[in-house]
Amino acid sequence: MSGKRVVLLLLFLLALALFAGCAQPAEEPPGENQEEPPRDEVALTGAELVEERCVQCHSLDRVSREREDQEWLEHTERMQAKSPDLLTDEEAGLVLEHLQATY
Ligand code: HEC
Repeated sequence: MSGKRVVLLLLFLLALALFAGCAQPAEEPPGENQEEPPRDEVALTGAELVEERCVQCHSLDRVSREREDQEWLEHTERMQAKSPDLLTDEEAGLVLEHLQATY
């Protein structure tokens, strides 16, 4: 087979492949790339929880101050009492851990 013929054959095959591709549009399965879980189910870290939940009534200035571990426990419990839906028990534990470790 001459070089020219090989090129022609390849072009022909290419055209055929393109045609087949057009005739059968690739069907995209719905939701393939939408696997991000809803925000609520993402577990936040203690730091993120503080930034998100503890600024509803006052600024972070009020929070970010050096305190004893025991004081943090009291503050966190007091804030929970003010707003019972603020944190789950698990989240409150993360917040407390974060605050005690950071300040
Ligand atoms: C429902 C509103 C509310 C939310 C939510 C809230 N706080 Fe407070 N916080 C207050 C109020 C009102 C005060 C001032 C009165 C008091 O100390 O009880 C306060 C005071 C504080 C203080 C004492 C500040 C000082 O001057 O000594 C700390 C510490 C604190 N909050 C931390 C937090 C943290 C940490 C969170 C998140 C877990 C949080 N707060 C969420 C209402 C809130």
